[in-house]
Amino acid sequence: MCALEGERILITGGSGSLGRVLTRILSFSSQVVVYSRNEERQFEMLQEIGNRNIEYVIGDIRDCQELTSALRGCTIAIHAAAMKDIIRCQRQPFQAILNNVYGTEALLKAALRNKIKKIIGISTDKAASPASVYGASKYIMEQLILEVSQIVDGQAYCIRFGNMIDSKGSLVPLWKKNPNRDLSVSDPEASRFFFTVEAAAKCIVQLLTFGKNGRIYIPKMKKAKIIKILQLLTGRKKFFTSGLCAGEKLHEMLVSEEERKFCFEEDDFFTLDYNKMNTNPPKILNSQWAEEIPQAELYRMIFSGAA
Ligand SMILES: NC(=O)c1ccc[n+]([C@@H]2O[C@H](COP(=O)([O-])OP(=O)(O)OC[C@H]3O[C@@H](n4cnc5c(N)ncnc54)[C@H](OP(=O)(O)O)[C@@H]3O)[C@@H](O)[C@H]2O)c1
Repeated sequence: MCALEGERILITGGSGSLGRVLTRILSFSSQVVVYSRNEERQFEMLQEIGNRNIEYVIGDIRDCQELTSALRGCTIAIHAAAMKDIIRCQRQPFQAILNNVYGTEALLKAALRNKIKKIIGISTDKAASPASVYGASKYIMEQLILEVSQIVDGQAYCIRFGNMIDSKGSLVPLWKKNPNRDLSVSDPEASRFFFTVEAAAKCIVQLLTFGKNGRIYIPKMKKAKIIKILQLLTGRKKFFTSGLCAGEKLHEMLVSEEERKFCFEEDDFFTLDYNKMNTNPPKILNSQWAEEIPQAELYRMIFSGAA
């Protein structure tokens, strides 16, 4: 953490699930600028974690001028703002593209103007062989950041996560808020890679010190079937099967088949480096075949998370 002392870090989406935890951790040693649109969310956050080393700025990521001014004096930009609901992105692709693609373009222009030395894009496994508008928009976000990595006087890289089990809008916090809600499962076989928000934030902090330019980092994650989470959450065994929505996959992959030849394995991460080929790439990158999260650990993730 000391390596980040004296840095000024802007977090787009700083008032979101991930942004809040990141802000709390990073503000111990650095100045943090929280950049997002909704005043009420920022007010809640101010009440919750205060303003020591934290500046709250209202602004849209599509507003390059506001971003340029918010980034003044910053050394690092973490890009976590996004429209992330698969179904909403599928219904309103224009808005998803405006936010996740044009918003990224505006951030990158503002960051280059301010000579930001590190730009980190927060991505998702849904960007690997995308089946949804959301996944495709995050894939483009990654590619924009990798393009900028070729000209930036510093570093630009991305981190892909699986599902953050306790993030706002996910099944677990929604059910905890209203345990009487009717839950269905899209498909009893459907599986996902899972992470907690806290673990994701710690992983980003770790990568802030050793991340390399032009890479996509993918932390090694284990999988769970969605039905298993529902069972642990509710104590029930059976659920109505609703069928997969448009844009939803049965299983996720961390790296697409096409990307696999550029994929390398490091201690806790897989990395994608499009400038290098790996003749012996890692094999298990699909949630169908990946190692399962042990039940006790899954239980802990569900019941001790931020939700
Ligand atoms: N949650 C997951 O399971 C998961 C998994 C993998 C990757 N990710 C990625 O991780 C990032 C953070 O996810 P999260 O779960 O923390 O999301 P979240 O709780 O929905 O937070 C999103 C944040 O982005 C802000 N935002 C959205 N559009 C904006 C805009 N146009 N201008 C400025 N701010 C905007 C929101 O604030 P306002 O609405 O107030 O502007 C909010 O602060 C996203 O990039 C997401 O794609 C999430």
